[in-house]
Amino acid sequence: MTEPESLQFIGDNEVRWHDRQLVYFSGCDYFRLARDPRLARAAARALASHGLNVAASRRTTGNHPIYAQLETALAGFFGAEAALVLPDGYLAPLAAAQALAGGFTHVLLDEFAHGALVDAARMFDCPVKVFQHRNVPDLARQVSRCGRGARPILLTDGMFSHDGSVAPLRDYLKIVPAPGRILVDDAHGVGVLGATGQGSLEHAGVSRTRVVQCATLSKAFGAYGGVVLGSRHLREKILARSRSFIGTTPVPPPLAGAALAALQCLRRDPARRKRLFRHVSLVRQQLQRAGWDITETPGPIIRLPALSAHGEKLLKQLLLDTGIYPPFLKYSGATARGIFRFVLSSEHTSIHLDQLTAVLTAFAQSRRKIFR
Ligand SMILES: Cc1ncc(COP(=O)(O)O)c(C=O)c1O
Repeated sequence: MTEPESLQFIGDNEVRWHDRQLVYFSGCDYFRLARDPRLARAAARALASHGLNVAASRRTTGNHPIYAQLETALAGFFGAEAALVLPDGYLAPLAAAQALAGGFTHVLLDEFAHGALVDAARMFDCPVKVFQHRNVPDLARQVSRCGRGARPILLTDGMFSHDGSVAPLRDYLKIVPAPGRILVDDAHGVGVLGATGQGSLEHAGVSRTRVVQCATLSKAFGAYGGVVLGSRHLREKILARSRSFIGTTPVPPPLAGAALAALQCLRRDPARRKRLFRHVSLVRQQLQRAGWDITETPGPIIRLPALSAHGEKLLKQLLLDTGIYPPFLKYSGATARGIFRFVLSSEHTSIHLDQLTAVLTAFAQSRRKIFR
């Protein structure tokens, strides 16, 4: 594996790559809060008051009051009974799974689930059945194979980062027999989806009764850390049983302070979410008009159809020539063959959006032969 080249941010929407300054349509800082002065000031205040790090597990002497403050704010923002903060988003599903282990007969796992869920699945110590990506009939088949009296737990991303599609949680709840549950890794959905940014549960209109929501504070919230949102009972079980919580140092207080500020920003400024989705529909419409086959998904992510190797090379070069960093991904699961994925932000300007649609329009119109 070759290590990706380093990128350095310049302002909200550009990066330095080698000696060039390029417009950036990637990453998951959907509202550019990671560079927001309100978060920076909150982090600086917490750093000055509380230091860089508590240097102990919360189960020993590291349980600083800022964590209770953040958890109360998170439970309020998400309308959950309780929240528990973890050192990062990867650990959130692991901590939930360690707490819930023993309560289920099978794990049902979306084939494109994030690695955090693949690892969390193992924690349940029961057979894992992989179902086709977001495929409700295939899920129903897998559930019927679990046999009578099965008590499965379904593991899925809320919003999938390769194309901005979402898990059909409402349909899943009809198929997963009670008291089976769903564990959603909503790293990309929180802050973005739903009328108030509560994520994929709000988007789907489902209650929390049989759904545990895990998330990260490092994407839409621009800070850092993970969170499990669920019942007080689940929170207590994690505190008592989850080694990923018990044996780790919590989020540094300055980042907890920044996360508190991020929650306030998103609450007070719903216009950012509206602006983000205005950008998405504008770019999508223009690309569709130019002939691109772009799937309508609820997320702020525009994935191009697969290109030939020659087409990929040409488009990378054309983007570079017009001053855009080529957001080409190639790793596991849905991106294994390599995809162009443009992530939009509420803070892109109309000049950036026009630049993007112009280059993709020109490419589509002149190079129809390169689609696979
Ligand atoms: C779906 C998903 N889950 C979990 C994570 C891990 O979150 P964190 O980076 O906070 O550890 C990520 C991202 O990096 C992700 O995309």
